[in-house]
Amino acid sequence: MPYTFARSQELFQRAQRSIAAGVNSGIRKMEAPVPLYFTRGSGPNLWDVDGNHYLDFQLGQGALLYGHAPAGMADAIAAQARLGTHWAAQCELEIEVAERIQKLVPSAELIRYSNSATEVVLTAFRLARAHTGRKLILKFEGHYHGWADEGLVGFANPLDRWGPDENPARLHPSKGVIPEVLDQFVVARWNDVAHLRRRVDEFRGQIAAIIFEPVLCNTCVIEPAPGLMSAIRELCDRDGMLMISDETITGFRFGGSCAQGYYGYKPDLTILGKAVGGGTPFAALAGTKAAMAKIISGEVIHAGTLNGNPLCLAASKWSLDQIGAQGADYPAGTQKLGRKLMAGLSALAAEHKVPLRPQGPGLIFHTVILKPGAAEGPINDYRDYVRRHDAPRWAHLRRCLLEEGVRAIERGLWSISLAHGDGDIDEALKRAAVAFRRHAATWTAPA
Ligand SMILES: Cc1ncc(COP(=O)(O)O)c(C=O)c1O
Repeated sequence: MPYTFARSQELFQRAQRSIAAGVNSGIRKMEAPVPLYFTRGSGPNLWDVDGNHYLDFQLGQGALLYGHAPAGMADAIAAQARLGTHWAAQCELEIEVAERIQKLVPSAELIRYSNSATEVVLTAFRLARAHTGRKLILKFEGHYHGWADEGLVGFANPLDRWGPDENPARLHPSKGVIPEVLDQFVVARWNDVAHLRRRVDEFRGQIAAIIFEPVLCNTCVIEPAPGLMSAIRELCDRDGMLMISDETITGFRFGGSCAQGYYGYKPDLTILGKAVGGGTPFAALAGTKAAMAKIISGEVIHAGTLNGNPLCLAASKWSLDQIGAQGADYPAGTQKLGRKLMAGLSALAAEHKVPLRPQGPGLIFHTVILKPGAAEGPINDYRDYVRRHDAPRWAHLRRCLLEEGVRAIERGLWSISLAHGDGDIDEALKRAAVAFRRHAATWTAPA
């Protein structure tokens, strides 16, 4: 029998009387039929208040690279909590964590901590502007860099207003943003090197930095085209711009040296979030000494009462030790599991005639469903995705999967953790088979 969610429904009704819109992050409202309430997680497993058990591929929006509630991390946090929960001062632990990041990530010559990647992005922009004395940041359409005014420009450009291919619009999906913020950005399409060169040339001498998700995880998991990373590096070197790699999702998921090691490039600044704190509110800015110079000199302000909080540092140290202890098989072993899941979902899709095309390098992937009549082949950028992906059909399938206990991120993103094993993938596919059958039998395209 498909799962039901009566207790979550009840709690969501109650929450709306005390919590604005009933949730504490807007995106959580997307979960259908209701935002779920959880009681417990362990490894790849998650249980909700209705007693439903899930194989979890949502993983705290990708933060839980080590699975739910790993015992070693819980012990490390508990031990630290007994010594002190917050000092707003120095402790040896913060050096130990920074030294671990330095050892894993070659471009991380110096590090600073914050509580969220959103904040780290803002610090990186401030630093880049101070470093260059320029105003503009070049970012790519469909890339997400946190929820602040500056992180969301051009993230969700709607098809009817996104502007020409050569000049993507600088739109913001939120109301309440000062219009002048939009003027601080140049938006380019992802994966088109010739177009990128033209965009940079048009604003030559005015751009402080180029920021990107090395794999466009927030839109369809689109890997960088061959030559894109080296073109960004070359343009940054040529024009004195900083190269900012936003590795909030890819950091440590793509191996100890992150996506920059996996794809072979060296950024000036790196945004680390999610896995670096193993699911605690922890994020880091890492960079070369040259790029960090204005923080060292004190000309750029970076502050925060809770920065380098010892509970988060304890979790981070434990997390980075897990990464450091992975053998040469990392990330290939995790990738193999992800690819097995992708292949299994593809086989089920073929069996039930669902045009589902999992896309991504396995460590993380996206389940694209092609719109009727859409062309085959990998999706290459944000516009391509909006034109070809059948979002309502995916939402229907996602609900069927959830009702059988397989949980992916609402938008279609799946992450694999170090806690998943072959047996978990087999079990997920067994459950997915039931979900696909029900989806195929009940899906009707909107008129
Ligand atoms: C690429 C990227 N950058 C920045 C952020 C912002 O991270 P946080 O939610 O920790 O502020 C996210 C969050 O999902 C992200 O995916």
